[in-house]
Amino acid sequence: MSERDVTRYDGAAGTVAGAESTGGAVAGAESTGGAVAGATVTDEVVRVEGVNRTFGRGEHAVHAVRDVSFSAGRGELVAVRGRSGAGKTTLLNLVGGLDRPDSGRVVVAGHDVTGAAEKELLELRRGTVGFVFQTFGLVPILSAAENVGVPLRLARVPAAEREERVAVLLELVGLGGHAGQRPYELSGGQQQRVAVARALANEPDLLIADEPTGQLDSETGRSIMDLLRAVVHARGMTALVATHDPALIDLADRVLTLRDGHLLPA
Ligand SMILES: Nc1ncnc2c1ncn2[C@@H]1O[C@H](COP(=O)(O)OP(=O)(O)OP(=O)(O)O)[C@@H](O)[C@H]1O
Ligand SMILES: [Mg+2]
Repeated sequence: MSERDVTRYDGAAGTVAGAESTGGAVAGAESTGGAVAGATVTDEVVRVEGVNRTFGRGEHAVHAVRDVSFSAGRGELVAVRGRSGAGKTTLLNLVGGLDRPDSGRVVVAGHDVTGAAEKELLELRRGTVGFVFQTFGLVPILSAAENVGVPLRLARVPAAEREERVAVLLELVGLGGHAGQRPYELSGGQQQRVAVARALANEPDLLIADEPTGQLDSETGRSIMDLLRAVVHARGMTALVATHDPALIDLADRVLTLRDGHLLPA
């Protein structure tokens, strides 16, 4: 399936195939506005309360995130924008349990990330949150299917079920025919689709994507954002996506703007 194939959400099978790179309309998901039929936005998945994160000390201290509070619900694609150094990555890392705040509280799908022990954080990162990075982060010696299967192996999903789930996930991101290819045999956009499939493998409540389109041309970037949007709406997940790109920000249900670590009023 090519990058340009039309996104289609098949409610019965629970799949989103491909993603349209132009136009942006997604069957089964509303193309404009915020909430989407079939997805409730009342359930709170992310709650961030008065979070601060400072790096370094004294005169060299960098206040990367300052007193940030917000929440995000199911079925919401939330863009996080702001200049380089505004604190986007720091905030995403705090929400995903990759880093801890100096003060304040982060709750994800009912788990208090702030107070969690390292073991709980590991479980959170493996089960509740899926990550997508700018540089894809695929394992070069593994095929697309094996890369998608990594989180399932870590979760000790039996081989037969794993294969089945990987096939469904690759189909979902429009790469059904590319299961055996290694990352270097795939285009950048295809690699990012594999990374999205991998992030979805354990059916997370929250998808965190840090500039997922930063290394892609604008059309391919748009198709990845369309895919994320379709998945979030179809599955009633929540996504936090850091991006600079105004065209992609337009696809979000809501936009958070950071400036020097502060969240600006909406
Ligand atoms: N581990 C760290 N140690 C020291 N300073 C850090 C660390 N991580 C981030 N910072 C600083 O915190 C500030 C916010 O960085 P952050 O990476 O969150 O910005 P960003 O909005 O993601 O920027 P970009 O768009 O360039 O990715 C920057 O001034 C950065 O130098
Ligand atoms: Mg960043």
